[in-house]
Amino acid sequence: MHNQQQQDRGGSMLLLATGAAAVATVATLFPPPVSAWLPVAGIAIAIVLLAGLAQWILQQDSGNAAGGSTPSSLNPSQVLELIKTRRSVFPKDMTGEAGAISKQQLATMLDAARWAPTHKLTEPWHFVVLSGAAKAAFEELTIELCQQRLEPEKAEATVAKLRRKQAKDWPKVHCYIAICLKRHQEVPEWEEIAAVACAVQNMALVGSSMGVHGYWSSWQPAARDAPEMHELLQIDAAKGDRCLGVFVVGQGQQERLAGYRPRRQELDEKVLWLQ
Ligand SMILES: Cc1cc2nc3c(=O)[nH]c(=O)nc-3n(C[C@H](O)[C@H](O)[C@H](O)COP(=O)(O)O)c2cc1C
Repeated sequence: MHNQQQQDRGGSMLLLATGAAAVATVATLFPPPVSAWLPVAGIAIAIVLLAGLAQWILQQDSGNAAGGSTPSSLNPSQVLELIKTRRSVFPKDMTGEAGAISKQQLATMLDAARWAPTHKLTEPWHFVVLSGAAKAAFEELTIELCQQRLEPEKAEATVAKLRRKQAKDWPKVHCYIAICLKRHQEVPEWEEIAAVACAVQNMALVGSSMGVHGYWSSWQPAARDAPEMHELLQIDAAKGDRCLGVFVVGQGQQERLAGYRPRRQELDEKVLWLQ
């Protein structure tokens, strides 16, 4: 609905509610039965209309958030600050505090992800949230697949390293969000991977704004690309669908985060201005 139409609707509801309340008040001056039932009916109608008005106001708020107009509450320096202060936070620096991250926060991050740009609107992202028993199964399968699929001498060192992480670091992870690509043949693969990357950045930024941290891990390729992992994540590899790693989610320890140093090369080294 256009803004003007929405405003008209809200205004009409307010006017009718005020009218109904006025009728109810005036009706009390009349003799029964008018003074008995008309005020009740008038107040009931006014309540219904005011409830409609409240709902309309809420709808307007959420409409503004997703409506495409620039939100007036944000200015460029705030947006830039959010972008520059987001950091990849690793499990060793997470609190592991149970209940620190809500499902609603994760849903907000995933909602942000789906607003990434996408060529031909293929929306090639697909996310699998692994928590609880599914998280443990994902970790164990990762180690087993590395054991099975890596060259023996590499497998030994990798599995030992992963077992240490499983004991020490991974318990601090709240959940993994598997970053998956669902292919559409009308768009080259690189464009769809790029769109998924944009989605992940949206997710990371909104997470960062809420104190939900994490990082994009490519994950162990030997495990990530195995048919058993595809089965767990319900990936259809025959169609070209893939797992592009996982977003490792957790709550960062504030004192550790203070030690994170942002590091980027100078803008001039990355930009060629041609006129
Ligand atoms: C596609 C992609 C894959 C990544 N894979 C890993 C990874 O496997 N392991 C890791 O430690 N960091 C990984 N990172 C995170 C980078 O290490 C991190 O972004 C970089 O150090 C810059 O730090 P910042 O994100 O705090 O600016 C990955 C990042 C991207 C975009």
